[in-house]
Amino acid sequence: YDRQDQRLPKQRLLVVANRLPVSAVRQGKDSWQLEISVGGLVSALLGLKEFDARWIGWAGVNVPDETGQEALTKALAEKKCIPVFLDEDTVHQYYNGYCNNIIWPLFHYLGLPQEDRLSTTRSFQSQFDAYKKANQMFANVVHENYEEGDVVWCHDYHLMFLPRCLKEKNSNIKVGWFLHTPFPSSEIHRMLPSRRDLLESVLAADLVGFHTYDYARHFVSACTRILGLEGTPEGVENQGKLTRVAAFPIGIDSDRFIRALELPQVQDHIKELKERFAGRKVMLGVDRLDMIKGIPQKILAFEEFLEENPEWRDKVVLLQIAVPTRTDVPEYQKLSSQVHEIVGRINGRFGTLTAVPIHHLDRSLDFHALCALYAVTDVALITSLRDGMNLVSYEFVACQASKKGVLILSEFAGAAQSLGAGALLVNPWNIAEVAASISQALNMPADEREKMHQHNFMHVTTHTSQEWAATFVSELNDTIIEAQLRTRQVPFLPV
Ligand code: G6P
Repeated sequence: YDRQDQRLPKQRLLVVANRLPVSAVRQGKDSWQLEISVGGLVSALLGLKEFDARWIGWAGVNVPDETGQEALTKALAEKKCIPVFLDEDTVHQYYNGYCNNIIWPLFHYLGLPQEDRLSTTRSFQSQFDAYKKANQMFANVVHENYEEGDVVWCHDYHLMFLPRCLKEKNSNIKVGWFLHTPFPSSEIHRMLPSRRDLLESVLAADLVGFHTYDYARHFVSACTRILGLEGTPEGVENQGKLTRVAAFPIGIDSDRFIRALELPQVQDHIKELKERFAGRKVMLGVDRLDMIKGIPQKILAFEEFLEENPEWRDKVVLLQIAVPTRTDVPEYQKLSSQVHEIVGRINGRFGTLTAVPIHHLDRSLDFHALCALYAVTDVALITSLRDGMNLVSYEFVACQASKKGVLILSEFAGAAQSLGAGALLVNPWNIAEVAASISQALNMPADEREKMHQHNFMHVTTHTSQEWAATFVSELNDTIIEAQLRTRQVPFLPV
């Protein structure tokens, strides 16, 4: 199969993820407005140009009525999206509960909720049941839309049960599963009451992928230690079936960012921002407002930097874009007030009548404004406590061809393994170290900045999301052919 050969039809791909690349907002009884969703998974998967891809997922909205469901299905079909309709209770138990209050914090090493042990244990079971039910609903929509030969690519921690649901109904479906978060050490994973079920379900896939080699290694050791299975260099073996496990570091559609910088509206934005912050160095943070992003720690490090370097106080500004996310989950609500409190205190302490050191925005920016902001930034500050990859670091690098600013990057982000040599790596828990890195970044000589930028730019423009997807899917096709040859389902044809 030669992907370059234009005469061949593109391979059909069913991408299944909890969230569709667009979220729906109801405008009237039968009319919907579609907005681009946020998050690393969406930004990476937007560039799947080599495939005939359809996307199956939740549109982020409760649509109880049939007319509304029909109208939304029609509107989404134009974007090649197929909705899974989840009712309010399922969203509450599966998405807010099991996905975002249990798996997400645990996979990022933040532990399990423990306020009220008894009620947590009880709600744990009902949330896990809702998780399985929701995964089955996704499977039903996949089966309804499946055509023979399709590759089904399941994404992320929301859908760990999906490979099993798919294979139970049709063992011939080609199933890949990719995790966009870290997979934690087996010592962390074993805390989950449903630890066995989740691992066994993922192992129903033909190919299991992670961002880094470490995450893949953690997954294999969880399977060997918790399930007692055999790990091999290729993956995990279970009763004669091999599930291939490997690392596929994700990337971005770097050309989209580079091209955007040429647009007149982006150039206008750049000009405005330069005027607005003339005479000051711009530091930038762009994160979803999530505990894993280490936003309070980052802001405290900036405060420590200002405290120790009074000469910088009116010469630097920190722009922190914190996109609200999962706002129905109490932990996220607490984080929002905590961040506001710290920002208010620091601005009160170091602000003047005409300027404040921190501009904190509780909202997302449109793509063009974001590109302009990346382009005028002197120092990007990414201090995740844990992060599967962190594509903001990639987006920043893609927009820095002229500025060649400095990337300060958490060593706990997957991106540290690819951009580490071109960044100042920090332990985000060590506030003094982050403060010292801010000083180092702001004072870094141009030739050093240039060298680091070139390293990163080369990586970001050659390890793109298109290449990531093509590698995963071709590996999945190969894995299946190898498995068929092993079990002699494919006759050997001499050439
Ligand atoms: C992370 C996850 C994605 C998720 C995104 C946004 O990047 O890996 O699966 O879509 O966050 O979170 P949300 O809960 O809004 O979908």
